[in-house]
Amino acid sequence: MNRWLSGSIVGAALVSLVVAGCAPAQPTEDEEPVEEPIFDEIEEEEEHDHQADQGVLGLVGTAVMHTGEGEEMGEVIFTQTEEGVLVEGLLESLEPGPKGFHVHEHGQCDPPDFESAGGHFNPEGHPHGGPDDPPGERHAGDFGNIEFDDDGAAEFSFVDDMITLGDGTNDVAGKALIVHYQEDDEETQPTGDAGPRAACGIIEIIRSDVE
Ligand code: CU
Ligand code: ZN
Repeated sequence: MNRWLSGSIVGAALVSLVVAGCAPAQPTEDEEPVEEPIFDEIEEEEEHDHQADQGVLGLVGTAVMHTGEGEEMGEVIFTQTEEGVLVEGLLESLEPGPKGFHVHEHGQCDPPDFESAGGHFNPEGHPHGGPDDPPGERHAGDFGNIEFDDDGAAEFSFVDDMITLGDGTNDVAGKALIVHYQEDDEETQPTGDAGPRAACGIIEIIRSDVE
């Protein structure tokens, strides 16, 4: 940054000299090549930093969920929006009730127990919590629970602004998505006591609406 600042000062000094020397207040053609490249480079750098924290807008990923017996349970769609990542899904064939739902750290779903997916996705080293906890007090992968109804189906849609898609520290692309057999209490460390893993799917990028 110092480099650019001093560049601007030198540029401004040069412009003053040119303006003072030529007397008229109109800008001369000489000043343009001095100033424009400096401002262009500063703008590009800021834009890149911003995107790294936000994920790639419009990027879409999907996780096709399978049980430990290899049955397909449904699909979960991830879309990077300006507010966060929109997570939408329809899953079937579990007992009614709330079931723990998390992104796990490894993109590996080896049946039947899916232990290969590792622990909760937690690149920033926070304790286990729930989606309503502040970002510093939960794993990035902590979605809390999804509710299965009397027909054994769970339909859900929520936005999570801690994770990102396609860029950033908490990018979930390529990670495993897990549904557990039991409820996540959002307190017990480090798993929420949600029991064994009922289904697993890897979050894969399928489409980008980015030009
Ligand atoms: Cu989990
Ligand atoms: Zn967790």
